[in-house]
Amino acid sequence: MGMMILNAGEIAHLDSMSTDSAISGHDMIDRESNVSPSGLGLLIEDGIFTSITDSQSLQTEYAPDWDGESTSSKLSIIDAKGCAIIPGLIDSHTHLIWGGDRSSEMRQRQSGMSYKQISDIGGGIQRTVTSTRKMSLKEMVSIGLSRVVEASKYGTCAMEVKSGYGLDTETELRLLEAASEISNISDVGIFPTWLGAHDFPHDKGRTNYFDELLSEQLPKVSEQGIANWCDVFCEDGWYTNDETESIVEQAKEFGLQSRLHVDEFVDSDGLALAADLGCVSADHVAKSNTDSRQKASDAGTMQTFLPGTPYVLGNALDLPLNECIDNNWAFSLATDYNPNCRFLSLPLVSNICCTRMGLDPLTALIATTRNPATTLGDDTITGRIAVGHSANVNIVSSRDVDGWCQTPGENPFSHTIISGNIV
Ligand code: NIG
Ligand code: FE
Repeated sequence: MGMMILNAGEIAHLDSMSTDSAISGHDMIDRESNVSPSGLGLLIEDGIFTSITDSQSLQTEYAPDWDGESTSSKLSIIDAKGCAIIPGLIDSHTHLIWGGDRSSEMRQRQSGMSYKQISDIGGGIQRTVTSTRKMSLKEMVSIGLSRVVEASKYGTCAMEVKSGYGLDTETELRLLEAASEISNISDVGIFPTWLGAHDFPHDKGRTNYFDELLSEQLPKVSEQGIANWCDVFCEDGWYTNDETESIVEQAKEFGLQSRLHVDEFVDSDGLALAADLGCVSADHVAKSNTDSRQKASDAGTMQTFLPGTPYVLGNALDLPLNECIDNNWAFSLATDYNPNCRFLSLPLVSNICCTRMGLDPLTALIATTRNPATTLGDDTITGRIAVGHSANVNIVSSRDVDGWCQTPGENPFSHTIISGNIV
């Protein structure tokens, strides 16, 4: 059965330029080519937009007897009542599945300890590894699914999901298996990444674990076909650039492309490395230098900013988002959902960018839809509203498209539709 959304307000279709590439530069603030005026309707059949045209004509053709409430038409009808419509959101960086609780780290941070210092005394990632290793597959699926459902309430229709809290072959594989089970039962698209190189486990020597990554984890991940990408926490104090390069090159041999954590706390030329290695995305990139950013742009490596992390760590909110626009560098925004950064809401993360870093809400929308879509390599997830594309949309409780990220303590959406189904 199909669906019709009538009486749309503004539609941020983001279908400017016919190519599949990301939008960058001043095109990211160009309303004329990215937003249609109100008065349109959308016809959805078999999960795909089949017509986007004047609302009145659509109604006359498909549901002439609709009186605002009931109709004999087989289509289900949503009256948008002049509210704005945006594409389904895409969260291209999450650590979705883990157990335990790290709430006590707030006090440690407030007493002046850094992320690295907390990690060095067994907190941070290591602490979550201890609790995650104890989880059964069933527990992982259940907790991951509940988080996916929560994210979908905030408009997310697709999520990248990393392993990384096992740090041993068995648990890393279990985390990825859980992601694949969640993918089978959830409306939200799930895109798994192997992040065995998230840290070095305290119960194994550095060399031994590095060897395990290359000779055991990677071959098994590849053999089981349970990850789309490889990721490494490439950062001073964790994985070196040389170690990162070896892992990424070896992953390529196994047919896996990479998306990396780089330059979160210090600039170690991690973004330049990601560009040299041809990574699809380099994430955090808070401290990267200008040359690296240009290099990434030339190489087609997406810069993915994760504003939730400096926010929760109490660090400066000074990501060079508008600098990316001025320099025509494509970028995305994601939540980085993890035990320390519990954002499942892309509207909230985007709100921080708009209120604290002067980002235009339309730009934030492009950075959480069409741009991250280009890193997922799946033609059913395009972050656009256009005929022939999957029907993933959110109806905003505002007539203005910009309202999508201006309600930090409230859900901005009245409806979320994934592949033509209301979730
Ligand atoms: O992207 N920085 C590395 N990994 C995560 C945080 C992991 C954690 O603290 O548990 C991140 O922020
Ligand atoms: Fe992360």
